[in-house]
Amino acid sequence: MNNISNDKLEEIKNKSDIVEVISSYIPLTKKGRNYFGLCPFHDDHSPSMSVSREKKIYNCFVCGAKGNVVNFVMNFENVNYIEALKILGDKCGIPLNINTYEKREDYSNFYKIYELSNKFYQNNLKTELGEEAVKYLEKRSINEDIIKEFKIGLALGYDKSLTKLLIKKGYKEQDLVDIGLSNKTDYGYQDLFLNRIMFPLWNIDGKIVGYSGRIYNTDKKVQAKYINTKETKIFTKGLNLYNYHRAKNEVRMSGQVIIMEGFMDCIRAYSVGIKNVVATMGTALTVEQATLIKKLSHNVILCFDGDSAGGKASYACGNELYKLGINPKVVRLESNLDPDEYILKYGEKKFKEKLDNAINFIDFKISYLKEGKNINDSVELSEYINSVVNEVKLIDDDVLRELTLKKVANEINISFETLMNKLWKSINDDEKKAIEELQEDNFNVDTNKKVYTPKKRKVINNEVDNKVISKYTKAENMILYYMLHNKDITYKYEKVFPYLPTKKNRFLAQEVMYFVKKYDTINISDFCKYLSDKPELMDLVGQILNHDYKKEYTDEEIKDYFKVIKEYNLNQEINRLQKEMKSVSDKETKLALANKIMNLKMGVCEDARN
Ligand code: CTP
Ligand code: MN
Repeated sequence: MNNISNDKLEEIKNKSDIVEVISSYIPLTKKGRNYFGLCPFHDDHSPSMSVSREKKIYNCFVCGAKGNVVNFVMNFENVNYIEALKILGDKCGIPLNINTYEKREDYSNFYKIYELSNKFYQNNLKTELGEEAVKYLEKRSINEDIIKEFKIGLALGYDKSLTKLLIKKGYKEQDLVDIGLSNKTDYGYQDLFLNRIMFPLWNIDGKIVGYSGRIYNTDKKVQAKYINTKETKIFTKGLNLYNYHRAKNEVRMSGQVIIMEGFMDCIRAYSVGIKNVVATMGTALTVEQATLIKKLSHNVILCFDGDSAGGKASYACGNELYKLGINPKVVRLESNLDPDEYILKYGEKKFKEKLDNAINFIDFKISYLKEGKNINDSVELSEYINSVVNEVKLIDDDVLRELTLKKVANEINISFETLMNKLWKSINDDEKKAIEELQEDNFNVDTNKKVYTPKKRKVINNEVDNKVISKYTKAENMILYYMLHNKDITYKYEKVFPYLPTKKNRFLAQEVMYFVKKYDTINISDFCKYLSDKPELMDLVGQILNHDYKKEYTDEEIKDYFKVIKEYNLNQEINRLQKEMKSVSDKETKLALANKIMNLKMGVCEDARN
């Protein structure tokens, strides 16, 4: 346990002077009471960011970036709440000497080895032995400037040239094997990459930590097109994105990030001036990668290969981002081209037009679901409709829901009402299932005491509604805020067990509950450490703690927050039933629903009186 007290974090926050901190990153000039500077969060040409020492906030009147000193550091440095406080602590002389992560080993030697190997590979390309590889690159329109910028090199066909060199420099053979540069064979230690064009892979801090080696003069059928560095102590594929370290700065300016599949696509886009690009390197997007993207920008364009695999990848990657609250846009390229091929064939102007005309994720999904389906066939049509309904269900904006269904209805010549009914029925079924689950699995209901105690940890999947009106959002935030500061509130939460409307908040409350039950205390820095494998919740902790709520509270206030949540849930249920009532025609069912609604409404009134 770190034992960094919450007071210490508070002290750092209070002691950090926002003007001093921000001017350590960007020049500020004083005008009247406030300070002004070029906003680092968009491509600013005249000073649009104002900083107020009195109000302790910054505010950009062009791009809307605003917040307190902790927000600024979080956004500028792309770090989480605790990391930002550590940086601020260093600046104002209150060091937080324990990292939120496990104590890191010193890998500087490994980074040095990679630097050296890269110099070696780059040099090979310039020798006579590299001529064929250079020709190959030229043929692919990868000129000298690109080679330099992306530090592209060449692994020769010899079996131990790099290994030999590194051993001569005094590095240990086993280390070379461990970090994926050499192999141990019966004939001694040998180079792992042979006869391949070497594309260095960087970690998010810009250090070379691996390679992707491409064949250039051998048969694709005989050898894998690419060989990548294995997972090592310094390289975890799922925690990196190609070109992230460069894109970081570019995205801050352009306010948008483009995701591609291949690093060759990234390199091509970069070479025509589209620099806010990263590549997944052909694998499924992990939560960590999605979180990295989210830190860069919420404005995301997926531009994958034009083939059907690219469609599938856009769908999967988009869903992963959507879970974190990002609504990406999608570009589909014609004739199975990948971005690299597209730019070479049609030029950058046409490619930029494609980006400008990227479609909404939901529109993409609807057309993706239809791909390859014969809607004249009733079975396939019905499958299509079901899949559409399942997607539309996830939209939390009523208008968008309706518009999407209308579009689909027109397209397949089915009445909008039929689709709408299907949607309500499906939502209804889901909720019934969720309620059953809630009753069967999650709770011991003691009707005498009217206390609901959770039986076991279980994630509840149904999300009633994401759109939470500010009063309720505030209640949720306040509850979590006090839970993070005081274990008593967590115990209270456990007893009342209100169903927080926002899924993310509900998950966080669960985590706090488990932490408090395990350690019988709550301490933000330890809790963040405990959360370190859940970056999205860690971000949420940052957001919640960043509200400058008052530290003191009364029991009455806490009770009120719980009551607000309960009221929200009741209203939600009433709304749902009312909608259902509109959609059914059977009189008896209508009456039954009306009765249910009345009972629930009485519940709301009763709460209001109490
Ligand atoms: N990839 C890989 N191993 C392979 C094929 C692909 O690791 N055998 C990864 C690479 O990181 C590549 C990404 O998947 O960047 C996308 O694959 P693909 O579209 O096949 O590569 P391209 O970017 O089109 O590469 P090139 O143009 O050189 O063929
Ligand atoms: Mn390609």
